[in-house]
Amino acid sequence: MTMQDLPRTETVLTEAVAPGVLQITMNRPDRRNALDRATYAGLIAAIAQAEADAGIRAMVLTGAAGCFTSGNDIKDFAAASTNGPRVAIEFLTAISTARKPVVAAVEGFAVGIGTTMLMHCDLAYAGRSASFRLPFVALGLCPEGGSSHLLPLIAGTKRAAELLMLGEAFGAEVASDAGFINAVTPEGGALALALEKARALAALPPQSVMLTKDLMKHSQAGAIAKAIETEAHLFGERLLSDEAKAAFAAFLMKR
Ligand code: COA
Repeated sequence: MTMQDLPRTETVLTEAVAPGVLQITMNRPDRRNALDRATYAGLIAAIAQAEADAGIRAMVLTGAAGCFTSGNDIKDFAAASTNGPRVAIEFLTAISTARKPVVAAVEGFAVGIGTTMLMHCDLAYAGRSASFRLPFVALGLCPEGGSSHLLPLIAGTKRAAELLMLGEAFGAEVASDAGFINAVTPEGGALALALEKARALAALPPQSVMLTKDLMKHSQAGAIAKAIETEAHLFGERLLSDEAKAAFAAFLMKR
């Protein structure tokens, strides 16, 4: 497969930035890279292509214009009539089961699924002024992306309760202390460090890298898949709740 075959949609850019390294960029800057259905589909396709291409050994996931992502597109949430966008769950499944390493580079905002997807990445780096938030409760929703299972494991139950129940914004140092960011870089430096680590991974024996990832992940894989599905079911119900409808209307009215 050549790089020309890789998926290119307007809202997800893919580029071979170094030997064996595919950079995947969320690209809806006028919406702070909010994830609508097309963007989720583009991300799923990019991960699938990277997984299928023997020439690609590591992925770097980042956002355009100094922003990681503001999370699910709230207009899509507000328009939900039965349940949440299934394509979001397919994306979470794709990133949480990828066999090749995924390295995240975060600048600016990482909200909602923008934070939870980091828990599935193997390595993650954030610029000093990055801002994270798990705003599910304030939106009348509930945790998603396996975060109700993974965050207590990664950060401990007290820290997870603080981040998931209060849902306040927090900075890169807190994300690093909580354990889902490897290191905090100077502002604007996250991508360079992520690329450096991805290049290092790509230079290592690929089967050994994937085996090591699998060994670290497999004991939790079933529990994570189950948490993603359980949360998705409840999240879908919450999307239709009066609490959530009021929160979406309030966000969209401010615009
Ligand atoms: N869904 C849809 N549109 C979004 C969005 C989202 N998740 N996040 C931002 N946008 C849109 C805004 O409506 C705004 O559109 P406008 O220019 O037509 O008014 C534009 O992107 C810029 O956003 P703005 O809020 O003006 O930028 P900011 O830099 O002041 O704030 C955020 C950035 C991310 C803090 C803020 O946009 C925000 O809180 N977004 C919602 C995050 C969220 O709750 N996501 C869902 C998680 S479950």
